Amino acid sequence: MIKKEKMEIVSVSEIAMNTVEMTLKNKYVSLHATPGQFVHLLIKGYTLRRPISIADIDRNAETITILFKIVGSGTAELANYTQGMFIDALGPSGNGFSMEQPKDSTVLLIGGGIGIPPLHYLAKEFLKQNIRVISILGFQTKASVFYESHFQALGDTYIVTDDGSYGIKGLVTDVIAQVGDFDQYYSCGPLPMLQAVSTKLEKQEGYLSFEERMGCGVGACFACVVKTNDAAGYKKICKDGPVFSANEVVI
Ligand code: FES
Repeated sequence: MIKKEKMEIVSVSEIAMNTVEMTLKNKYVSLHATPGQFVHLLIKGYTLRRPISIADIDRNAETITILFKIVGSGTAELANYTQGMFIDALGPSGNGFSMEQPKDSTVLLIGGGIGIPPLHYLAKEFLKQNIRVISILGFQTKASVFYESHFQALGDTYIVTDDGSYGIKGLVTDVIAQVGDFDQYYSCGPLPMLQAVSTKLEKQEGYLSFEERMGCGVGACFACVVKTNDAAGYKKICKDGPVFSANEVVI
């Protein structure tokens, strides 16, 4: 259930170019959030909340970790928040990833840019279930790379950059043929990447998590719809998603 909570900032640091990692303390969200869910943060001076996905959880410390990119004045303001300050948050929000996988199966995670953080929390949970994880992580350039060692600790990891300044040059879809067999895929990133991934893997079962600007964040305003094959037609990313089965959505 989504609740309105105050979250205390435990730490903030810029871990890659314009990419900020923030750890927040809150018992309720840390206990209940599942991989793929997000928190909807209210930044001082702004009326629209910002949806930010959860990159990690420490239930003992009652903290969640989020990563966000500084893309405008709102996220720049959030990056200026400091340890000990409180943020008004709604969460945990949305429907996360399906975690139903047979033991000993292999999953492929494909992330692009700021779509990568929720896959980190997902990978950690899969590992606890003895599910093998392979990750393909795409970034624009070397300076934007983050969490490489975090993912390497969880399984085989391929880093791809658009300009070839680090890792493999190209797109995440260029690398899929190299990774070997897997049972299902999970992808999060910008829409063109999700389109390319779902087209390339159309015969494979998979899940897509959408990054979308939102209004209400709770299913009340229709600001975040995606077309589906379902009789319902359009579904709301904030409430029905952000994760959908790749077969379900028309993108
Ligand atoms: Fe209002 Fe999704 S943001 S319905």
